[in-house]
Amino acid sequence: MSDTLSTNNRLLRTLQGEITETPPLWLMRQAGRYLPEYREIRASVGSFLELCGTPELAAEVTLQPLRRFDLDAAIIFSDILIVPFAMGQQVEFVKGEGPKLDPLTDGKAIATLERAATSEVFAPVYEALRRVRAELNPETALIGFCGAPWTVATYMIAGGGSKDQAEARALAYTDPQAFAGLIDLLVEVSAEYLINQVKAGAQVLQIFDSWSGSLAEDEFARWSIAATKSLVAKVKAEAPEVPIIGFPKGSGPSAIPYARKTGIDAIGCDTSLPLRFIADNLQNLLPVQGNLDPVLLMAGGEHLDRRVKEILEILGDRPFIFNLGHGILPQTPPEHVSRLVSLVRSK
Ligand code: CP3
Repeated sequence: MSDTLSTNNRLLRTLQGEITETPPLWLMRQAGRYLPEYREIRASVGSFLELCGTPELAAEVTLQPLRRFDLDAAIIFSDILIVPFAMGQQVEFVKGEGPKLDPLTDGKAIATLERAATSEVFAPVYEALRRVRAELNPETALIGFCGAPWTVATYMIAGGGSKDQAEARALAYTDPQAFAGLIDLLVEVSAEYLINQVKAGAQVLQIFDSWSGSLAEDEFARWSIAATKSLVAKVKAEAPEVPIIGFPKGSGPSAIPYARKTGIDAIGCDTSLPLRFIADNLQNLLPVQGNLDPVLLMAGGEHLDRRVKEILEILGDRPFIFNLGHGILPQTPPEHVSRLVSLVRSK
């Protein structure tokens, strides 16, 4: 297991409740298409999944943003949809269209999923983690991740991205038993995946619940909070020392019960959450992470400078991890990221 007690690592210290001289900083989706060096490697392979499955390249792409910018963490290059792929579902990333899966339309389709095939797909991710950890300096944390069961299920059921996640919500209402079976399976496979990521060198884990915001109150409690809680408990049973960041995007005020009940160590806040709300209702419970608008990072200029300052003023005096409120956009000029880093560092 990795050493989470290294005291010179800002992200780990903040997750342990310390306040560092400047807050730790990393960016969701920090490796990717906004970097020309990523596009070059991406063009050299046939498919996105091939990139994820080639440890040497996945490790290189993970390290690219760290070579350019003074960031406190690397996040392993992979995707949340590697989990359904590992469970035997067909997954493809179609250029310009996003992910395409063979949709699971009912309980019968769900019953065809396997657990056995997973190790072959996951092994290259673990190898990439080992390679990245070996190259990173001790001040830089390595983050492993997975999608939350609910968010991954939305893609599995709709066969890709979907408007309002209506297909998954409908199946959860019409056949809650089959849907619960899928969620339970995702909890198990994701727990095993996260635990093995820790064994391969991940020192922090993040659970992306990108579509939790489409759930109604009771369904949020069941499919987002309860499922995440059981995933976190399984991981903590094997790796109690590794902090877990939950990111319930779009959850609004439901972020409060999410923070209280899931067992996570820190909460990622999306762009729509007001800073005062975060300070008063979430940062009193846990370290918080967020929440600069990725569109503002893309736009740049004075407004960016002002907002970064505001975020630091309101959240910076208690445990806080600077990040975006969602993933970095492919159109973002890399110089805007450099500007952001210097603004946060000059706090
Ligand atoms: O953060 C990082 O740098 C690590 C890599 C990472 C990727 N996806 C690489 C990727 C991470 C952490 C993710 C998470 C992910 N993937 C989420 C949760 C976070 C969020 O943005 O809400 C979700 C919902 C997905 C599913 C997914 N993967 C979609 C919808 C798409 C297509 C649209 C898009 O954003 O590109 C992907 C493809 C994907 N995942 C790319 C990358 C770099 C682009 C593929 C390419 O280069 O061709």
